[in-house]
Amino acid sequence: MNNVEDRLPKHVAIIMDGNGRWAQKRGYQRSMGHLEGSKTLEKLGIYILKKGIDVLSVFAFSTENFKRSKEEVDYLMNLFIEMFTKKFKKLQKEGIKVVFSGRRKPLRDDVLKAMDEMEEKTKNNTKGILNICLNYGGQEELIDASCKIAEDYKNGKLDLVSLNKESFSKYLYRDLPPIDLLIRTSGELRISNFMLYQMAYSEMVFTDVYFPDFKEKEFDAALEEYYKRNRRFGGN
Ligand code: IPE
Ligand code: IPE
Ligand code: MG
Repeated sequence: MNNVEDRLPKHVAIIMDGNGRWAQKRGYQRSMGHLEGSKTLEKLGIYILKKGIDVLSVFAFSTENFKRSKEEVDYLMNLFIEMFTKKFKKLQKEGIKVVFSGRRKPLRDDVLKAMDEMEEKTKNNTKGILNICLNYGGQEELIDASCKIAEDYKNGKLDLVSLNKESFSKYLYRDLPPIDLLIRTSGELRISNFMLYQMAYSEMVFTDVYFPDFKEKEFDAALEEYYKRNRRFGGN
């Protein structure tokens, strides 16, 4: 048996779900749940990446989340701006590099500007990568990658026989290692169009805890569960 350090996942992904229900259970507006979730994210992100895990991907806003009320979408977009321009100071100080995955359209210009600035400010950081999936869809990512591949092929930049799992990955929004551990909070047992390509062989842990309450202790329990799994990758 390898020691724990060797078995540490390289890439952890979290579907941060249940903010609305966390708030409703307490008689608050749904927006309070998003605010509390944003605080949990900063603390948890630092905790996870400090363990030596290379990449943490988090689902912050799906392409489908634009179906929500204008009030909720506006609240979330303004909260993202606050997070990226003012709140995520500790994360930056800890040396974490922040990157984003998703489509730029139809995000507002002020949101895009805050995202670009956050990426720019942290681009030379080396203590782990926080990949924030915002206006992200897994199927959309595969469609966008296919378009880039077709473009490169048309321009004679790509030889189709060279296409394999690794080279395909370079056409995704971010070239990241496969997801080892995927966690979804709030009790829902589905993927909701998250990182379809990257989770081909990830171990999945589902917990009933709502995201704002998903703290260090809850993460450690998910990691313990991960260590118990026997990853076979199709072998025996
Ligand atoms: C996750 O919490 C955050 C986003 C999808 C933006 P929800 O807002 O989905 O919370 P529930 O699932 O309604 O409780
Ligand atoms: C998935 O949660 C998206 C995020 C966590 C950002 P949803 O709450 O949107 O997922 P469904 O609608 O319950 O599948
Ligand atoms: Mg939800």
